[in-house]
Amino acid sequence: MKIQGSVALVTGANRGLGSAFARALLAAGAAKVYAAARDPSTITLEGVVPVRLDVTRPDQIEALARELGDVTLLINNAGIGGSGPVLDPMVIDRLHQQFETNAIGPLRMVQAFAPTMATQSSSAVINVISALSWATLPGITGSYSASKAAAWALSNAMRQELKAQGTEVLSLHVAFMDTDMARGVPGPKSSPDEIARLAIAALEAGKSELLADEVTRSVHAGLTAEPPMYLGMLG
Ligand SMILES: NC(=O)c1ccc[n+]([C@@H]2O[C@H](COP(=O)([O-])OP(=O)(O)OC[C@H]3O[C@@H](n4cnc5c(N)ncnc54)[C@H](OP(=O)(O)O)[C@@H]3O)[C@@H](O)[C@H]2O)c1
Repeated sequence: MKIQGSVALVTGANRGLGSAFARALLAAGAAKVYAAARDPSTITLEGVVPVRLDVTRPDQIEALARELGDVTLLINNAGIGGSGPVLDPMVIDRLHQQFETNAIGPLRMVQAFAPTMATQSSSAVINVISALSWATLPGITGSYSASKAAAWALSNAMRQELKAQGTEVLSLHVAFMDTDMARGVPGPKSSPDEIARLAIAALEAGKSELLADEVTRSVHAGLTAEPPMYLGMLG
């Protein structure tokens, strides 16, 4: 799909990768960018249309879908991290929040906006997933990885079901980026602006999946290594 002339809706657009997507979309010629945030007053980027959206609130999702009848590109970016061992009983609450935000929220968004996108001559969804959908940092990312693995499976299912109406789906897998979410993680991180540009280029090239950096490509290759990376090589 071409970004020029598109009408995009980006969730979690007030900071991190979401704000990078909003900037990249404007630079690539989007006709309109709806920048969604739980608190729209935190949207400071000029040229976008701020809208209120908590992706765990079905009432807000449905109201927004009724209000915005012109969306051609949905970017499911909003997400939460949070870490700790899965054997800690506290993980259950975190797991519910991560599934609601990282997997069920994006699905609800697609359910709500699919009818609008079906009426457009060209439409697409970008689901921001993670290299950690395919591997777990032991004792650290078990619940987050589970939510992103679910998001990946749902992204694949959405692609199959939206094909009939001509809506494309791009899964974006990326390793650590230089945003608040990975603030405490040492080592090299990708620039969110660069990742947003790569994702937009991949969408324009008709790709269904983007492995956006070398670490992500190596984790993906590790799925079929012997032993597979997810059996513990990241530990
Ligand atoms: N950073 C990384 O290393 C990394 C790596 C791989 C994938 N990702 C994924 O990339 C995406 C963007 O993350 P980021 O790195 O930009 O993180 P970030 O800087 O922490 O930003 C997260 C964004 O999501 C929003 N958000 C969280 N819960 C929400 C909810 N219930 N409803 C609406 N918005 C919500 C936040 O809004 P508030 O300001 O209101 O909290 C914020 O705008 C996420 O899906 C994340 O899982 C990140």
